[in-house]
Amino acid sequence: MSDTATAWQAIEHSEPERLEALFESDPDRLDRLTIEEAGLYFDFAKTHLEAGLIDKFVALADAADLAGKRDALFAGEPVNASEGRAAEHMAQRGQGAPESVALANALHMRMRALVDAIEAGAMGEIRHVLHLGIGGSALGPDFVIDALGREEPAHDVAVVSNVDGAALETPFTLFDPEYTLVVIASKSFTTAETMLNAQSAIQWMRNAGIADPFGQMVALTAEPDKAVEFGIDQTRVLPFPETVGGRYSLWSSIGFPIALALGWEAFEQLLEGAAAMDRHFRLAEWRENAPVLAAFADLYYTQVRGAETRAVFAYDERLRLLPPYLQQLEMESNGKAATADGKPLDRTSASIVWGGVGTDAQHAVFQLLHQGTHLVPAEFVAVAEAHDHRDPAHHEQLLVNCFAQGAALMSGRPSDDPARHFPGDRPSSTILLERLDPADLGALLAFYEHRTFVNAALLGINPFDQFGVELGKDIARAIAEDEEALELDASTRALIERAL
Ligand code: F6P
Repeated sequence: MSDTATAWQAIEHSEPERLEALFESDPDRLDRLTIEEAGLYFDFAKTHLEAGLIDKFVALADAADLAGKRDALFAGEPVNASEGRAAEHMAQRGQGAPESVALANALHMRMRALVDAIEAGAMGEIRHVLHLGIGGSALGPDFVIDALGREEPAHDVAVVSNVDGAALETPFTLFDPEYTLVVIASKSFTTAETMLNAQSAIQWMRNAGIADPFGQMVALTAEPDKAVEFGIDQTRVLPFPETVGGRYSLWSSIGFPIALALGWEAFEQLLEGAAAMDRHFRLAEWRENAPVLAAFADLYYTQVRGAETRAVFAYDERLRLLPPYLQQLEMESNGKAATADGKPLDRTSASIVWGGVGTDAQHAVFQLLHQGTHLVPAEFVAVAEAHDHRDPAHHEQLLVNCFAQGAALMSGRPSDDPARHFPGDRPSSTILLERLDPADLGALLAFYEHRTFVNAALLGINPFDQFGVELGKDIARAIAEDEEALELDASTRALIERAL
């Protein structure tokens, strides 16, 4: 049996006590399972991780060479084996191979120069920014701007990703094309949805009498030649390296609308917060390492207890886009059935991530969390400091509810009446940001990236490719082009005949 198989076997044979009993049997539990780092407080004490189980996961980490894999990631080695390239998003925040960091700095300087020029009026008056991109080219900027840019953003920013024309209607109605900067964000610069939305934006500007719509466009891409060929002046094409994956790209020029909306300083603080988390991940012992402990808990529930999903609840309206952001990060990274060395994965892949905002979700889905038959590890993300201009009563209510849910899930409340019986022993973890500022948010997002990486490393998955999205794209293209050789089932044919 391989070393990892032996380590997994030991993990599978663990039988942790009920959560409340774990607190009683280990007086150091809170110390052991809470971590304070980079403005974030992580509480994993309401999970079933305990000293013995953590030791077994550390043995798995050693057997799976987690340290070697992490070092290869930071060194810029080709850890994305199926595509033969490195995964260098950390270099964008100054952590990684020196030549990659130097390149990232140079590209950031280009980006900053364009932000400065726009702020100085070099492109005329810009009131609105229409950011067109999808997946990783949209979710990160959308989330960060929504979280941090609610008060007096320098520009109105709309992020449009869906190919459904209805998504463009609001910005086309609210924005004045004369004062709109259109940003086309696409790593490949070929994504069908983004290209069609870009064409529609050009048409919208032309319809408004703008003679040169390309003069109001910026491209963010790893394929700068394609953007120039499309018609965008190369001074307004902001490249980023091929080694930065789409869902890891908000730190690169894909973050341009963040810098425009929040200012360059805020963008830099976002990078610095992420870099602080990078250092923590790189340097802390596994037992004191937040992304690593979080991944241990993830793996315990998915691999041993059969949990198929994890629910993430942002107890802060400003973080409402966290669940969709994490869905791409975690499910596109680790939703795979093959190992990095090309063998079938003999375990469950990444869990399905879902969630919402508290307290709304309490009145919708929490019934199932408290009394349903599924095991759903819950994750609460909240901010300690109240938002400046809010009546503090709101924030207090929000946090009271957040903490009450974790306590209720853990302790339960027995009753002889089955309808009123709360079994308890339901795991949750809590991440508390000191305040919602660029640095803390950067650290939070980097935490999730590294947690995803650790999950992949311990399962033996390559988290940096995404071949699973290709087949549907191919068939869509073939249908759109009416490709003769395309063989389709009767059900799909009938749908096409009805609607196309
Ligand atoms: O959905 C697949 C995907 O390739 C994502 O990984 C990526 O973030 C998104 O499409 C957009 O791709 P691009 O930035 O090349 O337009």
